[in-house]
Amino acid sequence: MRSTVIAVMLALVSLVAVGPQAGFVVAQDTSAQEALDQRVRDFLAAARWRSRTLNVSAADGQKLHDLIVENGYTRAVEVGTSTGHSTIWIAWALSKTGGKLITVEINERRHQRALANLEEAGLSSFVDARLADAHELVPELEGPFDFAFIDADKDWYVRYFNWLLPEIEVGGCFAAHNVSESGEGSPGENAPPGRMEEGTAEFVQEILATPSLNTEFFMDGGGLSISYKR
Ligand SMILES: C[S@@+](CC[C@H](N)C(=O)[O-])C[C@H]1O[C@@H](n2cnc3c(N)ncnc32)[C@H](O)[C@@H]1O
Repeated sequence: MRSTVIAVMLALVSLVAVGPQAGFVVAQDTSAQEALDQRVRDFLAAARWRSRTLNVSAADGQKLHDLIVENGYTRAVEVGTSTGHSTIWIAWALSKTGGKLITVEINERRHQRALANLEEAGLSSFVDARLADAHELVPELEGPFDFAFIDADKDWYVRYFNWLLPEIEVGGCFAAHNVSESGEGSPGENAPPGRMEEGTAEFVQEILATPSLNTEFFMDGGGLSISYKR
């Protein structure tokens, strides 16, 4: 009897120690989460996100974070890491839900910078950051996912959407950056005045015409479409 109790305790301890890297959903204890929250807040306040790496605004980052926390999402995918601003907001949310993110970036320098940023923010263990061409990687990804965020080459949004939608479970969410309901694109927060993102009109038509989705738009930042699968 005593050996059974010890075996169960050891199994529980090893499960907690392994954490989200092995795919287990493990919430952190309160004090560890508070310490992490402070570290991420400090990092976000100190980091300088640059226009040439096209990072999302804090408003969009906060929105992505809140979507994940409010819906309890745990299996996330991101296309277009850049240096990791949106990645940090998503990973921060996943640290609270006990989840994990796969993110992909084609540019090696940005990928390396994102890895360093995630390390500094204390979020590396919540992210599987891949250096790859999303055109090749995304069709190979196997779900189920409950959250997807697309922020890479705009003229590939429709293809990313068609590859990922079957992998997203009912109740899950597909979000995309630099779009608006009119389909005319939206001003990138960091873009020169008057410049509009191009290539997303076809994508917006596609999501609005997909019966299995409820779509809304968040326009406080660079324009986010948020589509829930029903
Ligand atoms: C708008 S930035 C992403 C910004 C990022 N989400 C953030 O908030 O920090 C778009 C990124 O997508 C990457 N990208 C473009 N085409 C890609 C592809 N085929 N595969 C992977 N990444 C790609 C670019 O190199 C660029 O860093």
